[in-house]
Amino acid sequence: MESGFERLCSGVDGVDPLIEGGYPFPSVILVAGPAGTGKTTFSQQFLFAGADNDEVGLYITTLSEPPQWVMHYMSRIKRLNKSHIGKNVKFCDIGQLLRKATPQELIAFIDNEIAKTMAQRVVIDPITVIKDFLGVQYRPFIFDLVNHLKNWRAVTILTGEAEPNVIYPHEVAYAADGVVLLTYEEIDGTRKKYMEILKMRGTEHRTGKLTFNITRNDGFTVRAGSP
Ligand SMILES: Nc1ncnc2c1ncn2[C@@H]1O[C@H](COP(=O)(O)OP(=O)(O)O)[C@@H](O)[C@H]1O
Ligand SMILES: [Mg+2]
Repeated sequence: MESGFERLCSGVDGVDPLIEGGYPFPSVILVAGPAGTGKTTFSQQFLFAGADNDEVGLYITTLSEPPQWVMHYMSRIKRLNKSHIGKNVKFCDIGQLLRKATPQELIAFIDNEIAKTMAQRVVIDPITVIKDFLGVQYRPFIFDLVNHLKNWRAVTILTGEAEPNVIYPHEVAYAADGVVLLTYEEIDGTRKKYMEILKMRGTEHRTGKLTFNITRNDGFTVRAGSP
């Protein structure tokens, strides 16, 4: 293959041409940005695009939204084929487990879910809330989790919000193979949404900010050649 890697399509119009056709397979990608920038939408489209090609996707939600809500919101985006829900896009909620599990138990649970479903596409949304439960064990947990995830024949998207005064969650960004940053910015009184690829190992990727939209028909789309 041209870029030397097998790749998985992003499911987001405008993104694949920026990264030599898709995410390196296997890899772990951080999608970072403040609340409401579209991290969940971006990562759901990744799962549904795989399901359109008969791949299996696994969505693991931590503490942000219950799976039924995510399904409900996503079912309003026309490009997503709802019949994949529960079949080639499987949902798993680890909110309860998080409250009592050790880092090792969490990783074992996630490993087991991937093994059980044989998912080629995995999303953990959001990963950063786990910090509140693990404290000083969070950094080694992220390191171990990312290394486990890289051993699977899968691309995993981890979503994350940054803490105040930093742009993205650094612990996850160091360990991940790729970092996609979503931001809002106010320019001349209007708020614009931007996507930027900060890192994509093994890939000659586009740099700089590109504007994106989220619409009911097409979901999350990145405008080529923008801004
Ligand atoms: N069906 C939709 N139609 C139009 N806009 C949508 C739709 N779904 C989500 N959005 C937009 O996406 C934003 C939230 O996206 P979401 O993926 O939940 O963000 P995050 O996970 O980063 O908090 C909403 O605030 C809204 O602007
Ligand atoms: Mg979200």
